Amino acid sequence: MYNLLKGKKGIIFGALDEKSIAWKVAERAHEEGAEFVLTNAPIALRMGQLSELAEKTGAQIIPADATSVEDLTNLVEKAMEILGGKLDFVLHSIGMSVNVRKGKAYTDPKYDFTTKGWDVSAVSFHKTMNVLYNKNAMNEWGSIVALTYMAAQRVFPDYNDMADNKAYLESIARSFGYFFGRDHKVRVNTISQSPTPTTAGQGVKGFDGFISYAEKMSPLGNATALECADYTITLFSDLTKKVTLQNLFHDGGFSNMGVSDKVMEHFIEE
Ligand SMILES: NC(=O)c1ccc[n+]([C@@H]2O[C@H](COP(=O)([O-])OP(=O)(O)OC[C@H]3O[C@@H](n4cnc5c(N)ncnc54)[C@H](O)[C@@H]3O)[C@@H](O)[C@H]2O)c1
Repeated sequence: MYNLLKGKKGIIFGALDEKSIAWKVAERAHEEGAEFVLTNAPIALRMGQLSELAEKTGAQIIPADATSVEDLTNLVEKAMEILGGKLDFVLHSIGMSVNVRKGKAYTDPKYDFTTKGWDVSAVSFHKTMNVLYNKNAMNEWGSIVALTYMAAQRVFPDYNDMADNKAYLESIARSFGYFFGRDHKVRVNTISQSPTPTTAGQGVKGFDGFISYAEKMSPLGNATALECADYTITLFSDLTKKVTLQNLFHDGGFSNMGVSDKVMEHFIEE
C-alpha cells in the first residue's frame, strides 16, 4: 500500500454488503491510512452487514437517508465531531429506481416512482453537497466523488429511468463542482463504472447478458468493484488535485468502442 490517504478524513455512503463498490472503497481507504465514517439508509443498515465493515476499518456508522437534508446535516456534524475536524473526501455511492424494482417499463412508468428514484439517485448528491458546502465542512483540496454509468450518454434500454437519473447526477457534479472549486478549492467528479455484479447492478433486467457483452466489447475487460475502489482512492489522494468537473470513464475502454473482434464473432456467417 502507498499511504495515499494518510491523515485524511471522510464519509463513505452506500456500502451494503461486501459486493458493494463503496465497501471496497472503504477497505482500500482504510489500507491507505484514511479515517472515515460509514453511512447508509436506516433500512439498509437493518438488512446489510455494515457493522462488519465498520469493525474491520475502525469506522463508526451514522445512519442517514440521503434524501433527507435533516439526516445529512446530522451526519456531517457528527462525522466532523468523531473525526475531529473538516473532511477531505466524500463518496456518494447510491442508486435506486423504484420503476426498475417494480418492473415498470420506461415507456409507462409510475411518476411517483420516477420522482422517488430521482431523489435517491441524483438529488441526494445535490443535498449532500449543499450541507457540506454551507457548513464549510470540506478542507481545501478535498475531493468529492459520485458513481455513475454510461447510460447517461448512450442508450441502454433496460437501465430504464436510471439513465435519466445518472445524466442529472453528472450535471450536478459539474454545476456544484464549479461553486465548490471557486469557493473552497474542493474538486467534484463522477466515475462512470463498468457493469459490476452488486445488489444495485443485478437489479437491472438482463444484467448477466449485459455484463458479458461489456466484457467482450472492452479491450481490457470490465473493471471490477475493487479496481473501481483503487481508482476512487487516486481521486481522493493529493495526486489528482486539479481534476474537477469531470465524468471519468472507468470501464476497460468500453465507452470508446464501436465493435470488437469478440463481439463480431457472433455475427460472422461461415
Ligand atoms: N453495479 C453496477 O453495475 C454499477 C455500474 C455503474 C455505476 N454504479 C453505481 O455505483 C453506485 C453503488 O452501487 P453498487 O453497484 O455498489 O450497489 P449497492 O446496491 O451495493 O449500493 C447501492 C447503495 O445505495 C444505498 N441507498 C439506496 N437508497 C438510499 C438512501 N435513500 N439513502 C442512502 N443510501 C441509499 C443502498 O442502501 C446501497 O448501499 C450506485 O450509484 C450505482 O448506480 C453501479
